[in-house]
Amino acid sequence: MDVPQVDLGFLPTPVHPLSRLSRHLGGPEIWIKRDDQTGLATGGNKTRKLRLLVADALAQGADTLITGGAIQSNHARQTAAAAAQFGLECHLVLRGQPPEIPTGNLLLDHLLGAHIHWVPSKEAMARTMEEVAQQLREAGKHPYVIPYGGSNGLGAAAYALAVRELLRQVPPDTFDAVVVASSSGGTQAGLVAGAHIFGWDVPIVGISVDEPADVLRVRVARLAAEAGDVLEVDVALAPDAILVEDRFLGGGYAVVGDLEREAIRLVARTEGVLLDPVYTGRAFGGLIHLIREGRWGPRDRVLFWHTGGIAGLFAFARELMA
Ligand SMILES: Cc1ncc(COP(=O)(O)O)c(C=O)c1O
Repeated sequence: MDVPQVDLGFLPTPVHPLSRLSRHLGGPEIWIKRDDQTGLATGGNKTRKLRLLVADALAQGADTLITGGAIQSNHARQTAAAAAQFGLECHLVLRGQPPEIPTGNLLLDHLLGAHIHWVPSKEAMARTMEEVAQQLREAGKHPYVIPYGGSNGLGAAAYALAVRELLRQVPPDTFDAVVVASSSGGTQAGLVAGAHIFGWDVPIVGISVDEPADVLRVRVARLAAEAGDVLEVDVALAPDAILVEDRFLGGGYAVVGDLEREAIRLVARTEGVLLDPVYTGRAFGGLIHLIREGRWGPRDRVLFWHTGGIAGLFAFARELMA
């Protein structure tokens, strides 16, 4: 069960109630698990994944990390920070055009010393990561390629172990549901696998950020099984057993609308807690919508698993002030 991990970030992250917000909404008691506080260059969910991924990279003798993502990728920024902490070179393959002045996560990528390669599309990303790896190998380096979102068996296993962390903080029957942002799927897959492995009987609702539910369910079920392989436990779950809400995709990936704006402002103004514009703003907006629909009542207790991304706020000032 114990997988090699490097000492990265600060765990355990806190878990606490959002009492003023819960009163304001008049719905269930809302609690929050603060993976925005993992401490790695403004924190986030990829820190847990990178603890296992960097350990694997070092075990393989790697001297360079390569990964990819969107221009404001939180995963890329945390990978750059992890590389810096372990004295590794970092290459990021980012989707988009280089802006005149980098902001948000991209600014941090530069400060953290990452080498940035620009590609026009998601399709070009995986191919370019492999090309960069090949060029580095030819130059005598030992690159380690981390998949999009850090979502493979190791990355997802990190979130199965996060369930064990939470169950050391609160009794297993504390929550009636968990709500989490889901995109490349590794975080939700790990939570689902962890619930299965550690006997935590709770619905884990993924709010899809950019995929239709049927696509994400299949991916999450596959990654949960891969997390099980890493932890040497059989986790065979049917995609139908994975809970995904895809009603909050709005204008598409990283398009900030009223749902995200309202959630970000409300949580900031009632609790002093920041959400990010792309993932947790959308996921919390979805949570508020589900509460208003009556999915959970005042006697229920719902955990929002905060996955970080705060640095992205600074790249979305115009949309957030609209
Ligand atoms: C802040 C934040 N929340 C949630 C997610 C989604 O996590 P996953 O890709 O494991 O589904 C990401 C992924 O990039 C993220 O950056």
